[in-house]
Amino acid sequence: MKRTLILQAPAKINIVLWVKEKRPDGYHELSSIMQSLSLVDTITLQETREEGIQIECDNPDVPRDQKNLVYKAAQLFFEHFGISPGIIIRIQKRIPIAAGLAGGSTDAGAVFNGLARLYDKGMTMADRMKLSMAVGSDVPFVIRGGLAVAQGRGELLNFFETPRPPLFVLIAVPKNIEVSTKWCYENYKPGQSKRSEENFRDILSAYRKRDLEFLKHNVFNDLESVTFKRHLAVADIKEALNSEGSGAVLMSGSGPSVFGLYTDRKAAIKAASRLDITKVNLFLEQTSRGSNF
Ligand code: C5P
Repeated sequence: MKRTLILQAPAKINIVLWVKEKRPDGYHELSSIMQSLSLVDTITLQETREEGIQIECDNPDVPRDQKNLVYKAAQLFFEHFGISPGIIIRIQKRIPIAAGLAGGSTDAGAVFNGLARLYDKGMTMADRMKLSMAVGSDVPFVIRGGLAVAQGRGELLNFFETPRPPLFVLIAVPKNIEVSTKWCYENYKPGQSKRSEENFRDILSAYRKRDLEFLKHNVFNDLESVTFKRHLAVADIKEALNSEGSGAVLMSGSGPSVFGLYTDRKAAIKAASRLDITKVNLFLEQTSRGSNF
Protein backbone atom coordinates (compact mmCIF):
# COMPACT_ATOMS: atom_id res chain seq x y z
CA MET A 1 0.00 0.00 0.00
CA LYS A 2 1.29 3.44 -0.89
CA ARG A 3 1.56 5.57 2.21
CA THR A 4 -0.19 8.94 1.93
CA LEU A 5 -0.20 12.00 4.16
CA ILE A 6 -2.29 15.17 3.96
CA LEU A 7 -1.01 18.31 5.65
CA GLN A 8 -2.12 21.89 6.04
CA ALA A 9 0.43 24.62 5.41
CA PRO A 10 -0.64 27.94 6.99
CA ALA A 11 0.29 31.39 5.70
CA LYS A 12 1.97 33.83 8.06
CA ILE A 13 2.01 37.58 8.59
CA ASN A 14 4.57 39.77 10.33
CA ILE A 15 2.91 41.88 13.02
CA VAL A 16 6.22 43.74 13.27
CA LEU A 17 9.24 43.55 10.98
CA TRP A 18 12.25 45.38 12.32
CA VAL A 19 15.19 45.13 9.93
CA LYS A 20 18.52 45.77 11.60
CA GLU A 21 22.04 45.69 10.18
CA LYS A 22 23.25 43.69 7.20
CA ARG A 23 25.46 40.81 8.29
CA PRO A 24 28.68 39.60 6.67
CA ASP A 25 26.75 36.61 5.22
CA GLY A 26 24.45 38.99 3.31
CA TYR A 27 21.36 38.43 5.47
CA HIS A 28 19.87 41.10 7.70
CA GLU A 29 19.52 40.82 11.44
CA LEU A 30 15.79 40.91 12.33
CA SER A 31 13.34 41.24 15.15
CA SER A 32 9.89 40.20 14.06
CA ILE A 33 6.59 38.98 15.47
CA MET A 34 5.24 36.19 13.29
CA GLN A 35 1.69 34.87 13.34
CA SER A 36 0.14 31.94 11.45
CA LEU A 37 -3.22 32.34 9.74
CA SER A 38 -6.20 30.16 8.95
CA LEU A 39 -5.35 30.62 5.24
CA VAL A 40 -3.73 27.33 4.20
CA ASP A 41 -2.36 25.39 1.26
CA THR A 42 -3.08 21.67 1.32
CA ILE A 43 -0.12 19.39 0.76
CA THR A 44 -0.53 15.71 -0.06
CA LEU A 45 2.47 13.39 0.03
CA GLN A 46 2.30 9.97 -1.57
CA GLU A 47 5.01 7.36 -1.87
CA THR A 48 5.62 5.98 -5.35
CA ARG A 49 7.85 3.26 -6.84
CA GLU A 50 9.03 5.77 -9.45
CA GLU A 51 12.31 7.27 -8.43
CA GLY A 52 12.56 11.03 -7.84
CA ILE A 53 10.61 13.96 -6.45
CA GLN A 54 7.49 14.83 -8.46
CA ILE A 55 5.57 18.03 -7.80
CA GLU A 56 1.96 18.61 -8.87
CA CYS A 57 0.17 21.91 -8.35
CA ASP A 58 -3.22 23.32 -9.33
CA ASN A 59 -1.63 26.72 -9.97
CA PRO A 60 0.37 26.77 -13.24
CA ASP A 61 2.53 29.66 -11.99
CA VAL A 62 4.12 27.47 -9.33
CA PRO A 63 7.38 25.88 -10.51
CA ARG A 64 7.59 22.05 -10.38
CA ASP A 65 11.37 21.83 -10.33
CA GLN A 66 14.34 22.74 -8.11
CA LYS A 67 13.15 26.36 -8.05
CA ASN A 68 10.26 25.35 -5.77
CA LEU A 69 11.15 25.46 -2.07
CA VAL A 70 9.15 22.26 -1.65
CA TYR A 71 11.56 20.48 -3.97
CA LYS A 72 14.53 21.89 -2.05
CA ALA A 73 13.06 20.76 1.26
CA ALA A 74 12.39 17.22 -0.01
CA GLN A 75 15.84 16.97 -1.61
CA LEU A 76 17.51 18.14 1.59
CA PHE A 77 15.55 15.62 3.66
CA PHE A 78 16.33 12.63 1.42
CA GLU A 79 20.01 13.57 1.12
CA HIS A 80 20.35 14.07 4.86
CA PHE A 81 19.08 10.55 5.57
CA GLY A 82 20.63 8.89 2.50
CA ILE A 83 17.19 7.77 1.26
CA SER A 84 16.60 7.42 -2.47
CA PRO A 85 13.47 9.49 -3.13
CA GLY A 86 10.21 8.15 -4.55
CA ILE A 87 7.55 10.70 -3.72
CA ILE A 88 4.72 12.68 -5.29
CA ILE A 89 4.00 16.03 -3.64
CA ARG A 90 0.68 17.64 -4.55
CA ILE A 91 0.13 21.30 -3.64
CA GLN A 92 -3.38 22.74 -3.60
CA LYS A 93 -2.58 26.42 -3.60
CA ARG A 94 -4.72 29.00 -1.84
CA ILE A 95 -2.00 31.28 -0.47
CA PRO A 96 -1.10 33.92 -3.06
CA ILE A 97 2.39 33.58 -4.54
CA ALA A 98 5.22 36.10 -3.89
CA ALA A 99 2.84 38.09 -1.72
CA GLY A 100 4.74 38.29 1.58
CA LEU A 101 2.65 35.56 3.22
CA ALA A 102 5.38 32.87 3.27
CA GLY A 103 3.42 30.61 0.91
CA GLY A 104 6.49 28.89 -0.53
CA SER A 105 8.15 28.54 2.87
CA THR A 106 5.09 27.06 4.54
CA ASP A 107 4.66 24.44 1.80
CA ALA A 108 8.33 23.54 2.31
CA GLY A 109 7.86 23.36 6.08
CA ALA A 110 4.84 21.08 5.72
CA VAL A 111 6.77 18.78 3.38
CA PHE A 112 9.61 18.61 5.87
CA ASN A 113 7.24 17.73 8.71
CA GLY A 114 5.41 15.24 6.51
CA LEU A 115 8.53 13.42 5.32
CA ALA A 116 9.85 13.24 8.90
CA ARG A 117 6.59 11.52 9.86
CA LEU A 118 6.38 9.29 6.79
CA TYR A 119 9.92 7.97 7.16
CA ASP A 120 9.79 7.92 10.96
CA LYS A 121 13.27 9.34 11.45
CA GLY A 122 12.66 10.39 15.05
CA MET A 123 13.52 14.01 14.30
CA THR A 124 12.53 16.41 17.05
CA MET A 125 10.92 19.70 16.12
CA ALA A 126 14.21 21.43 16.96
CA ASP A 127 16.07 19.08 14.53
CA ARG A 128 13.58 19.89 11.79
CA MET A 129 13.86 23.62 12.41
CA LYS A 130 17.64 23.50 12.32
CA LEU A 131 17.93 21.47 9.14
CA SER A 132 15.18 23.34 7.28
CA MET A 133 16.83 26.73 7.73
CA ALA A 134 18.93 25.98 4.65
CA VAL A 135 15.70 26.08 2.59
CA GLY A 136 14.76 29.63 3.68
CA SER A 137 14.77 31.99 6.66
CA ASP A 138 11.01 31.63 7.29
CA VAL A 139 10.94 27.82 7.19
CA PRO A 140 11.94 27.15 10.85
CA PHE A 141 8.97 29.27 11.99
CA VAL A 142 6.41 27.49 9.81
CA ILE A 143 7.68 24.07 10.97
CA ARG A 144 5.81 24.81 14.19
CA GLY A 145 3.69 27.89 13.43
CA GLY A 146 1.46 29.86 15.78
CA LEU A 147 2.92 32.98 17.36
CA ALA A 148 6.64 33.66 17.74
CA VAL A 149 9.25 36.33 18.03
CA ALA A 150 11.90 35.69 15.39
CA GLN A 151 15.43 37.02 15.60
CA GLY A 152 18.77 36.41 13.90
CA ARG A 153 17.92 35.97 10.21
CA GLY A 154 14.54 34.59 11.30
CA GLU A 155 15.63 31.26 12.77
CA LEU A 156 16.04 32.18 16.45
CA LEU A 157 12.50 31.62 17.63
CA ASN A 158 10.67 32.17 20.85
CA PHE A 159 7.15 30.74 20.65
CA PHE A 160 4.10 31.96 22.59
CA GLU A 161 0.64 30.54 23.02
CA THR A 162 -1.55 32.13 20.32
CA PRO A 163 -3.88 34.48 22.21
CA ARG A 164 -7.61 33.72 22.24
CA PRO A 165 -10.01 34.67 20.84
CA PRO A 166 -8.48 34.82 17.37
CA LEU A 167 -8.32 38.14 15.56
CA PHE A 168 -9.94 38.64 12.18
CA VAL A 169 -7.40 39.33 9.49
CA LEU A 170 -8.41 41.03 6.26
CA ILE A 171 -5.72 40.49 3.64
CA ALA A 172 -5.62 42.57 0.47
CA VAL A 173 -3.36 41.27 -2.26
CA PRO A 174 -2.90 43.68 -5.16
CA LYS A 175 -3.36 42.01 -8.53
CA ASN A 176 -0.39 41.93 -10.92
CA ILE A 177 2.23 42.95 -8.37
CA GLU A 178 4.81 40.44 -7.23
CA VAL A 179 7.65 41.43 -4.93
CA SER A 180 10.91 39.51 -4.62
CA THR A 181 12.07 39.32 -1.01
CA LYS A 182 15.68 39.40 -2.17
CA TRP A 183 15.08 42.60 -4.19
CA CYS A 184 13.33 44.20 -1.24
CA TYR A 185 16.13 43.52 1.23
CA GLU A 186 18.78 44.58 -1.31
CA ASN A 187 17.11 47.96 -1.64
CA TYR A 188 16.59 48.47 2.06
CA LYS A 189 18.73 51.29 3.46
CA PRO A 190 19.87 50.31 6.95
CA GLY A 191 20.00 52.94 9.62
CA GLN A 192 16.58 54.36 8.67
CA SER A 193 14.96 52.58 11.51
CA LYS A 194 14.67 54.47 14.81
CA ARG A 195 13.29 51.59 16.82
CA SER A 196 13.85 50.43 20.37
CA GLU A 197 13.79 47.08 22.13
CA GLU A 198 11.37 48.61 24.62
CA ASN A 199 8.91 49.58 21.89
CA PHE A 200 9.21 46.07 20.40
CA ARG A 201 8.42 44.47 23.78
CA ASP A 202 5.46 46.81 24.26
CA ILE A 203 4.05 45.81 20.87
CA LEU A 204 4.42 42.12 21.70
CA SER A 205 2.67 42.59 25.00
CA ALA A 206 -0.12 44.65 23.36
CA TYR A 207 -0.53 41.95 20.73
CA ARG A 208 -0.81 39.21 23.34
CA LYS A 209 -3.36 41.30 25.28
CA ARG A 210 -5.32 42.10 22.11
CA ASP A 211 -4.81 45.83 22.68
CA LEU A 212 -5.70 46.88 19.14
CA GLU A 213 -5.68 50.57 20.00
CA PHE A 214 -1.99 50.39 20.91
CA LEU A 215 -1.17 48.20 17.91
CA LYS A 216 -2.89 50.61 15.54
CA HIS A 217 -0.40 53.33 16.39
CA ASN A 218 2.71 51.23 16.90
CA VAL A 219 3.05 48.26 14.54
CA PHE A 220 5.68 48.76 11.84
CA ASN A 221 7.38 47.01 8.95
CA ASP A 222 10.69 48.47 7.82
CA LEU A 223 10.36 46.96 4.34
CA GLU A 224 7.28 49.11 3.60
CA SER A 225 9.55 52.02 2.64
CA VAL A 226 11.16 49.92 -0.12
CA THR A 227 8.01 48.34 -1.56
CA PHE A 228 5.84 51.51 -1.31
CA LYS A 229 8.43 53.51 -3.27
CA ARG A 230 8.32 51.10 -6.19
CA HIS A 231 4.61 50.20 -6.01
CA LEU A 232 2.48 53.18 -5.02
CA ALA A 233 -0.64 51.01 -5.27
CA VAL A 234 0.47 49.11 -2.15
CA ALA A 235 0.74 52.31 -0.12
CA ASP A 236 -2.72 53.30 -1.42
CA ILE A 237 -4.21 50.04 -0.12
CA LYS A 238 -2.74 50.68 3.30
CA GLU A 239 -4.16 54.19 3.31
CA ALA A 240 -7.60 52.97 2.23
CA LEU A 241 -7.72 50.35 5.01
CA ASN A 242 -6.52 52.92 7.53
CA SER A 243 -9.27 55.32 6.49
CA GLU A 244 -11.80 52.95 8.03
CA GLY A 245 -9.94 53.36 11.26
CA SER A 246 -10.74 50.42 13.49
CA GLY A 247 -7.92 48.03 12.61
CA ALA A 248 -4.13 47.81 12.86
CA VAL A 249 -2.95 47.90 9.23
CA LEU A 250 0.44 46.85 7.88
CA MET A 251 2.19 45.38 4.86
CA SER A 252 3.25 41.77 5.46
CA GLY A 253 6.86 40.67 4.89
CA SER A 254 8.26 42.23 1.73
CA GLY A 255 4.70 42.71 0.44
CA PRO A 256 2.72 43.40 -1.58
CA SER A 257 0.01 41.98 0.73
CA VAL A 258 -1.45 44.44 3.19
CA PHE A 259 -3.42 43.17 6.17
CA GLY A 260 -5.69 44.66 8.79
CA LEU A 261 -6.26 43.14 12.23
CA TYR A 262 -9.75 43.45 13.72
CA THR A 263 -11.49 42.16 16.82
CA ASP A 264 -14.74 41.59 14.97
CA ARG A 265 -15.76 40.38 11.55
CA LYS A 266 -18.04 43.35 10.84
CA ALA A 267 -15.20 45.84 11.20
CA ALA A 268 -13.04 43.77 8.81
CA ILE A 269 -15.82 43.71 6.23
CA LYS A 270 -16.39 47.44 6.61
CA ALA A 271 -12.71 48.06 5.94
CA ALA A 272 -12.91 45.84 2.84
CA SER A 273 -15.59 48.13 1.43
CA ARG A 274 -12.93 50.86 1.14
CA LEU A 275 -11.04 48.82 -1.47
CA ASP A 276 -11.55 48.52 -5.21
CA ILE A 277 -12.00 44.78 -5.78
CA THR A 278 -11.05 45.08 -9.43
CA LYS A 279 -7.53 45.83 -8.17
CA VAL A 280 -7.14 43.50 -5.16
CA ASN A 281 -7.90 39.94 -4.12
CA LEU A 282 -9.35 39.81 -0.64
CA PHE A 283 -9.15 37.12 2.03
CA LEU A 284 -10.97 37.20 5.34
CA GLU A 285 -9.10 34.91 7.71
CA GLN A 286 -8.25 34.53 11.38
CA THR A 287 -5.08 34.17 13.40
CA SER A 288 -4.37 30.49 14.05
CA ARG A 289 -2.19 28.21 16.15
CA GLY A 290 -0.58 26.74 13.05
CA SER A 291 -1.15 23.18 12.05
CA ASN A 292 2.11 21.89 10.72
CA PHE A 293 3.00 19.77 13.71
O1 C5P B 1 16.11 33.06 3.40
P1 C5P B 1 15.38 33.39 2.16
O2 C5P B 1 15.92 32.64 0.95
O3 C5P B 1 13.89 33.27 2.28
O4 C5P B 1 15.64 34.92 1.88
C1 C5P B 1 15.46 35.54 0.63
C2 C5P B 1 16.35 36.75 0.52
O5 C5P B 1 15.92 37.74 1.45
C3 C5P B 1 17.80 36.47 0.88
O6 C5P B 1 18.52 36.11 -0.26
C4 C5P B 1 18.28 37.80 1.42
O7 C5P B 1 18.66 38.63 0.35
C5 C5P B 1 17.04 38.41 2.04
N1 C5P B 1 16.99 38.25 3.50
C6 C5P B 1 17.78 39.08 4.29
N2 C5P B 1 17.74 38.93 5.66
C7 C5P B 1 16.94 38.01 6.24
C8 C5P B 1 16.11 37.18 5.45
C9 C5P B 1 16.16 37.32 4.09
O8 C5P B 1 18.52 39.92 3.78
N3 C5P B 1 16.92 37.93 7.56
